[in-house]
Amino acid sequence: MDTTLLIVKPDGVQRGLVGEIVGRFERKGLHLVGMKMMTISPELAAEHYKDHAEKPFYGGLVRFMTSSPVVAFAVRGVGAIGICRKMMGATFGPNAEPGTIRGDYGVSTSFNLIHGSDSPESAERELGLFFGDGELQEWAPANLGWHYDAAEELA
Ligand code: RTP
Ligand code: MG
Repeated sequence: MDTTLLIVKPDGVQRGLVGEIVGRFERKGLHLVGMKMMTISPELAAEHYKDHAEKPFYGGLVRFMTSSPVVAFAVRGVGAIGICRKMMGATFGPNAEPGTIRGDYGVSTSFNLIHGSDSPESAERELGLFFGDGELQEWAPANLGWHYDAAEELA
């Protein structure tokens, strides 16, 4: 199983969409293994988005991500990283397909509600930035065998 980092960004928290956004991943069948509300420091935002440091939008991105609290959470499942990226939709709402989080809830080309790790390497790095030792829970839902065909998919 993969574990991935998701963040309800400041606009999602301010608009009261935390439950709606987190609930979509739960209903999909991924399980939560960590969650925290926090205000991201400029240093953490810079480290998290360091691959974008040279981009023209970088300053605005760091200001946005540090402007108000976020909810960082981690979900787990087979193929979770790719599933979550599909559920998020294209980067900005106007281009994101209906049915995706960004497509259903966003109209902005600056604010886009959610972050999700885009590869196994990013997920490992980003989970380590947002969660300390022991902060992710090792558990599986009791009905996992009804989310997956255990003999085929969890072998
Ligand atoms: P994220 O990393 O936040 O999950 O979003 P993403 O993969 O869909 O997009 P990415 O290319 O990694 O960009 C990171 C964040 O930077 C902001 N951005 N602004 N003004 C622009 O052209 C622009 N491009 C990207 C967005 O907040 C995007 O989520
Ligand atoms: Mg990205």
